[in-house]
Amino acid sequence: MDWREIYESKLVTAEEAIKSIHDNDKVVTGFACGEPFAIERALIEHYEDYHNVEIVNMLTLGDSPWCRPEMKGHFTLNCLFASPSNRKAISSGVSEFTTSHFYEIPEMIKNYICPRVSIVMVSPPDEHGYVSFGTTVDYTKGTTDYCEVVIAQVNKYMPRTFGNSIKHVRDFTYFVECDEKLPEVKSVEISDTEMKIGKYCASLIHDGDCLQLGIGGIPNAVCAQLWDKKDLGIHSELVGDGVVDLLEAGVINNKKKQTNAYRTVIGAAFGSEKLNNYINNNPSVELHPIDYVNNPIEIAKNDNMVSINSCLQVDLLGQVVSDTVGLNQFSAVGGQVDFVRGATMSKGGRSIIAMPSTAKGGMISRIVDKITEGSAVTTPRNDVNYVVTEYGIAQLKGKTLKERARALISIAHPKFRPVLAIEYMKRYNEEPFTKDEVMEYISNTKEQIKEDVKNILSPSSKSCE
Ligand code: COA
Repeated sequence: MDWREIYESKLVTAEEAIKSIHDNDKVVTGFACGEPFAIERALIEHYEDYHNVEIVNMLTLGDSPWCRPEMKGHFTLNCLFASPSNRKAISSGVSEFTTSHFYEIPEMIKNYICPRVSIVMVSPPDEHGYVSFGTTVDYTKGTTDYCEVVIAQVNKYMPRTFGNSIKHVRDFTYFVECDEKLPEVKSVEISDTEMKIGKYCASLIHDGDCLQLGIGGIPNAVCAQLWDKKDLGIHSELVGDGVVDLLEAGVINNKKKQTNAYRTVIGAAFGSEKLNNYINNNPSVELHPIDYVNNPIEIAKNDNMVSINSCLQVDLLGQVVSDTVGLNQFSAVGGQVDFVRGATMSKGGRSIIAMPSTAKGGMISRIVDKITEGSAVTTPRNDVNYVVTEYGIAQLKGKTLKERARALISIAHPKFRPVLAIEYMKRYNEEPFTKDEVMEYISNTKEQIKEDVKNILSPSSKSCE
């Protein structure tokens, strides 16, 4: 049968497609820019027809309608990466959360969660009858290999991407056509603090390195500082808009990579239309399943691999907390540990954890004596290499407990260094710094307090109140 006839025979409305979902089903859905909202909307509209259905989704850019009170008994979200629209629901027990390293998620979904239905978003078929998973291959494509029912929203805005990202129309149960702009991750303006962090990170990146860029505000700040580099490569769980100009200018050309040379390799595109237009029909960008992209062994096959990720807190032992604030789930481990380990195993590799030194408008230090009670360690201290803040770089590998504590205190915000130094003295019965260093910190702290007071009293901050 011609692929067009196959496609036509499977083309239904969203309302018809969702009739194949039954009570007590587990339904896995595509995530981020590839979340099939048209089919999800139909489920939400007809929620009273469903009972005890579990929706498995990683990171949503939408409003998590599954968490609304009226969904109780009908749909439950099993989230794999918390986002602003479902953090409260997870913390209060309304929604479930499952934690896993990203490279293990495809196997975990298949063998432990065992969904019966997969809902995805794809591009329209090409002239050979192949649709593309576009921005979102990661765990998404794999679910369509084993789920009994596979429903695809066909959306002309979904880019057609290369790599292991296509499937023939015969491999789907239903198609639902609905063209709508993809959810976007818009770049926000880079702050002065992020710019300083970006500069320190860039100082650790050399010509010819292969990069992984994590999630949050830091990656774009790093990209902004890479214009004087040459022959960079990308092997990354995801990328945002920050890489597009560098790719177009040839700063990132993937020439020195040992695997997939001359090609940017990612599991998901996590940006706006700018990135989606760049990857559309672009053979130099390949999307692959995440059990390949994030597998530390695959990552390590590239020499000089540099991973750059962010976090919420680092304690004086060097333990990194990136996805919880106390008992509250803030995000997830994602591929942070996959890439920290892959970069460590790579010949000439380095891993960077970069963060602003403070949070909550400067009120709290992210470098702390002990991690907040209830928080989970995301990256264990034994894995951590470089930690970067706007105050510098602390290299922790090969350092004693005292040395790493001193290195971390020296990149904490000056106003929090005295408190950290006191904790150090209580723990190790010695002063962390020489008298001269202490004098310097005290004078820095005085300057900082003056600056803070000036900011608080400035007319612009008054008008914000
Ligand atoms: N205690 C309490 N709140 C904290 C905090 C702390 N220690 N550290 C940060 N916060 C607050 C910030 O103040 C901010 O709140 P606000 O928006 O009200 O000001 C919020 O948490 C977000 O912090 P920010 O640093 O701006 O987040 P980000 O968007 O840059 O993301 C991570 C940083 C760590 C959350 C993100 O990188 C992440 O989820 N990482 C784990 C997954 C990962 O690394 N994957 C890698 C491959 S993609």
